[in-house]
Amino acid sequence: MAKATTQFICSACGAVHRKWAGRCDACGEWNTIHEEAALSAGPARASLGAKKGKSAKLTSLAAEEAPPRRTESGLAELDRVLGGGLVPASAILVGGDPGIGKSTILLQAAAAFARRGLPAIYITGEEAAAQVQMRARRLDLADAPLQLAAETNLRNILTTLEEQRPALAVIDSIQTMWSDQVESAPGSVTQVRAAAHELTSFAKRRGVSVVLVGHVTKEGQIAGPRVVEHMVDTVLYFEGERGHQFRILRAVKNRFGPADEIGVFEMTGQGLAEVANPSALFLSERESPVSGSVVFAGIEGTRPLLMEIQALVAPSPLATPRRTVVGWDGARLSMVLAVLEARSGVGFGGLDVYLNIAGGLRIGEPAADLAVAAALVSSRQDIAIAPDTVLFGEVSLSGALRPVAQPDARLREAEKLGFAAAFAPQGMKTSGHTGLKVTTFGDLNDFIHQTFGAIEA
Ligand code: TYD
Ligand code: MG
Repeated sequence: MAKATTQFICSACGAVHRKWAGRCDACGEWNTIHEEAALSAGPARASLGAKKGKSAKLTSLAAEEAPPRRTESGLAELDRVLGGGLVPASAILVGGDPGIGKSTILLQAAAAFARRGLPAIYITGEEAAAQVQMRARRLDLADAPLQLAAETNLRNILTTLEEQRPALAVIDSIQTMWSDQVESAPGSVTQVRAAAHELTSFAKRRGVSVVLVGHVTKEGQIAGPRVVEHMVDTVLYFEGERGHQFRILRAVKNRFGPADEIGVFEMTGQGLAEVANPSALFLSERESPVSGSVVFAGIEGTRPLLMEIQALVAPSPLATPRRTVVGWDGARLSMVLAVLEARSGVGFGGLDVYLNIAGGLRIGEPAADLAVAAALVSSRQDIAIAPDTVLFGEVSLSGALRPVAQPDARLREAEKLGFAAAFAPQGMKTSGHTGLKVTTFGDLNDFIHQTFGAIEA
């Protein structure tokens, strides 16, 4: 008989440790390791060889299956992030900070699918049914044929889903669900994992698509969505700055479509509204030329997106000047600063540097290097870049500018939005059909000196 033991689990990443530690080796988070009852001791080793199991069904790789029949919600931004609509029997995790709008968008999505004839159930463990009904009325969704339940007991939920057999079930949130087979408290890693496992395997077995809502937790008190990321087919994160009304739904993992795809929404009094032309939105503040502000022609997922990059460079009173970045990678900023200093002689010692991506957007592409460098030097020299110009290009440590993917798509988007010129790396494979005046540069140094003239160190 295996005896009941306890184990130490990281609530950020779910790694299991033999003893307690202040920092999780697996993900590097501090204060996230908690003691929990072990889920199951598993079969004893000897019995595995002795008792024969059933052999698994084997098929060849060539066995052809029709592509999944997707259902579109009609919310184009959501359908795009899902890879073209909802795939039957898929498990989707929607993570995000508390209060960012997860319940709002999923209520809207479930109602949209229900209106399109997909039997759907929305199960809330966080709010009373009356609260959700009130929200539905305010969002003008009350007439949608969506079923609602306020329930946290996993056994009751599975029984309900078994009886009703909907095509879509939204579970809001996974951290409030509890299984009576597990001893730990709701929200603990063991409970979250057990609930997610039950629900995702139910999804596969019964052909029901389940959407799990997961709060991102800073404190590590309750288990975050990362604990269940590997169990689901699709992981979407709902991002945005609290002070901004824009919200970005980003596919981080998708077995049925491209990852890194984004959908852009705006939080309004009537819930989340789709933003069909995000480039125009993120650029709305630009009227006159301002030093330190440039437009980056980026690609998010499969879609070109223009973004404004703002830099402020100012004398620092501190011995170690500040490097503050919002929406970009801090290490990448250090690299661009180092290359500017080493290859072009443009130093930032004794200067505070602030870098911000307008609108609360987050950029992951190295293609933004050139635009960032331009914003930094523009602010340092107080020389504005013409506001009708877009930039893109990756900077290497040698100071060379590297071509980036999809230059045509970037240029077309810029042209569509009324831009007249582009600064880009040499050696791009473009079709050449662009109305933009494209100036290309082989290295960062050429770009800096041709654009800003001679610069004192
Ligand atoms: P909610 O969906 O409850 O967030 P989550 O489920 O991620 O915790 O959203 C809560 C916030 O959204 C709240 O601060 C109010 C705001 N909100 C609006 O601005 N407009 C609306 O129509 C709705 C429903 C919410
Ligand atoms: Mg909520």
